[in-house]
Amino acid sequence: MRRVVITGLGAVTPLGAGIKHTWRRLLECGSGIVSTTGRGAQFETIPSRVAGLVPLGSREDGKWQAKDWLPASEERQMALFAQYAIASAQEALDDAGWHPTAQHDLESTGVTIGSGIGNLDEAYNTSVAFHEGGYRKVSPLFVPRLLINLAAGHVSIRHGFKGPNHAATTACTTGVHAIGDASRLIAYGDANVMVAGGAESCIHPLAFAGFARARSLATAWNDDPTASSRPFDKDRAGFVMGEGAGIMVLEELEHATARKANIYAEIKGYGLSSDAYHMTAPREDGEGAYLAMRQALRHAKATPEMVDYVNAHATSTILGDAAENTAIKRLMLGQEGKEHASDINVSSTKGAVGHLLGAAGAVEAIFTTLAIQHNVLPPTLNLENPSPGFECNYVAKTPQDQRVDLALSNSFGFGGTNASLCLAAFR
Ligand SMILES: *[C@@H]1O[C@H](CO)[C@@H](O)[C@H](O)[C@H]1NC(C)=O
Ligand SMILES: *[C@@H]1O[C@H](CO)[C@@H](O)[C@H](O)[C@H]1NC(C)=O
Ligand SMILES: *[C@@H]1O[C@H](CO)[C@@H](O)[C@H](O)[C@H]1NC(C)=O
Repeated sequence: MRRVVITGLGAVTPLGAGIKHTWRRLLECGSGIVSTTGRGAQFETIPSRVAGLVPLGSREDGKWQAKDWLPASEERQMALFAQYAIASAQEALDDAGWHPTAQHDLESTGVTIGSGIGNLDEAYNTSVAFHEGGYRKVSPLFVPRLLINLAAGHVSIRHGFKGPNHAATTACTTGVHAIGDASRLIAYGDANVMVAGGAESCIHPLAFAGFARARSLATAWNDDPTASSRPFDKDRAGFVMGEGAGIMVLEELEHATARKANIYAEIKGYGLSSDAYHMTAPREDGEGAYLAMRQALRHAKATPEMVDYVNAHATSTILGDAAENTAIKRLMLGQEGKEHASDINVSSTKGAVGHLLGAAGAVEAIFTTLAIQHNVLPPTLNLENPSPGFECNYVAKTPQDQRVDLALSNSFGFGGTNASLCLAAFR
């Protein structure tokens, strides 16, 4: 099987636009969670009024404005999630130094970028306009701005990539599925290079209303937004919705070494499973998460004791964090070097950025890659008092220096879909 390595990274997150800025703020224990107060009357009617929002400003300041990344004509054609994808893909390709012009290279470069929800704003506005004004109120750009696979489409059009073009949409597992599936396309020879990840921007009152109705969102911290996303903490009370994108350039190993590309890490394993249990609730014993992690390690030909770090899905919900914690302990506890739960290193970066839904898995796989590159474990913000049974090392509040050779990055989604990536240092 052909080996797959990571040669480029790009992201737009609530911590900033661009990898450098995002990663620096993550290690400085910065938070991207703010209040939604002031965003319109509809937000005020919703019990959860906190969100992880991409900060607005110029690219030099590590902030977001569309005009730094695309001309006004394209901005008009594109959903915001697709704009985040375009920007992150540009950064990742520049980082990888991959700007091919030869036909063969263009044909062997593909794109897989997914989104969990897509352009809710467009669907909402057009529904209202159609209801009130009929046919003539529907924009000719309605469909291209609505479709989820258009992020991948726009990236391929901009760069001329003619390889596989695909979009996963598996709720909050989207990002990991996009990257994992792309790695398989390279392994099987369908492409030599893949631009892969997830993008999301549904900071819309209807999305908040829906998740709040499903009782998924944090509602107890509206006056203290930066404290609201608190994975593993006993006072956690639901997730905080965030927006952004994470994109990786994946490359076949020999292709990368032949052009002397910088290699961040290797994608060693990818495990997929299903809880087969409930629409939104996890199985208490964490069966799905356990199976996904076990499968990722099997592909990597690695054992649980080799895992130095787990970037948990942990969204700060009561049941989800507990199920994943149970699964991680079941997988690792008792293995050599992991006699005690405190020997297991786990963190959830959602404390800092919130839950980016379809982009979460991609952004977190990037954080995991950077943890490997810099030998540092990113912190779990706001973890004051772990719940009973939470005895691992959750890297509470501040980063920890620690050699990381092998790591897992987990993502789980509504519908019971679970996936895990196994990333390893390429040394
Ligand atoms: C939808 O309508 C709102 C309110 O008029 C506006 O602020 C927003 O930009 C519109 N979104 C799109 C995608 O047209
Ligand atoms: C598996 O995915 C489901 C999706 O609903 C999620 O709720 C659950 O937390 C995941 N499993 C575990 C053990 O975390
Ligand atoms: C977890 O990190 C600590 C340092 O923070 C380290 O001493 C320990 O060995 C790590 N555990 C594992 C299993 O790597």
